[in-house]
Amino acid sequence: MLSVENVDLSYGAAQVLWNVSLEAAPGEITCVLGRNGVGKTSLLRGIVGHQAVGKGRVMWNGKDISKLPPFERARRGIAYVPQGREIFPLLTVRENLETGFASLKGGRHKIPDEVFELFPVLKSMLSRRGGDLSGGQQQQLAIGRAMVAAPEIMILDEPTEGIQPSVIKDIGRAITYLRDSRSMAILLVEQYFEFACELADRFAVMDRGQVVVSGDQSGMMDENVRKYLTV
Ligand SMILES: Nc1ncnc2c1ncn2[C@@H]1O[C@H](COP(=O)(O)OP(=O)(O)O)[C@@H](O)[C@H]1O
Ligand SMILES: [Mg+2]
Repeated sequence: MLSVENVDLSYGAAQVLWNVSLEAAPGEITCVLGRNGVGKTSLLRGIVGHQAVGKGRVMWNGKDISKLPPFERARRGIAYVPQGREIFPLLTVRENLETGFASLKGGRHKIPDEVFELFPVLKSMLSRRGGDLSGGQQQQLAIGRAMVAAPEIMILDEPTEGIQPSVIKDIGRAITYLRDSRSMAILLVEQYFEFACELADRFAVMDRGQVVVSGDQSGMMDENVRKYLTV
């Protein structure tokens, strides 16, 4: 269970999050919605440790992880699929997937078959360089890499951004599979509202660095949600 408690976050003198609280539970997809620039990515960076939180705490399975470096959080089962994917362009697909082993204990590891079952295209491209893949293939690779680390929670930042519809379907199917078969907690930042609606069990809407509405799936169609999302 991930629990973000009353978190503030700043870049130097510029505060971008105010008193943000949020939970993500096993076997549930929690969707964070909001327009550009409201602080969604900053919130995820605070959770995974790429940016220090000010006031407040990030709790994971009952422990305060706010001060742990990113690799320690990864070791404890927190996987991050960043906005823009950030795969390694010069490494092959196989090598990109193998970087996911870094946060696992022990020596010998195998890439799980389910990565290739969910994303068959990766199997046929194992020796290609990451940088030669299309945007959609790179997104599948980024999710596959996160799966390799066998996480308890997967945190994804706008995985559908700039991706063609057929691949968006595959990504939705993969996320649902991880929730249902692994009872994984999923924290999903999305701007593609219909995609979010199909997947989410619960949601939180952000505006100007704060969570302004939250609830379970049944409340997502409310006018009160829409008004924060339409430009
Ligand atoms: N590295 C950074 N340094 C300074 N300001 C930043 C940095 N990253 C983001 N910001 C600012 O923080 C605010 C929230 O950005 P971000 O978290 O990326 O929002 P979102 O993901 O919702 O689009 C924006 O005003 C943005 O300009
Ligand atoms: Mg963002």
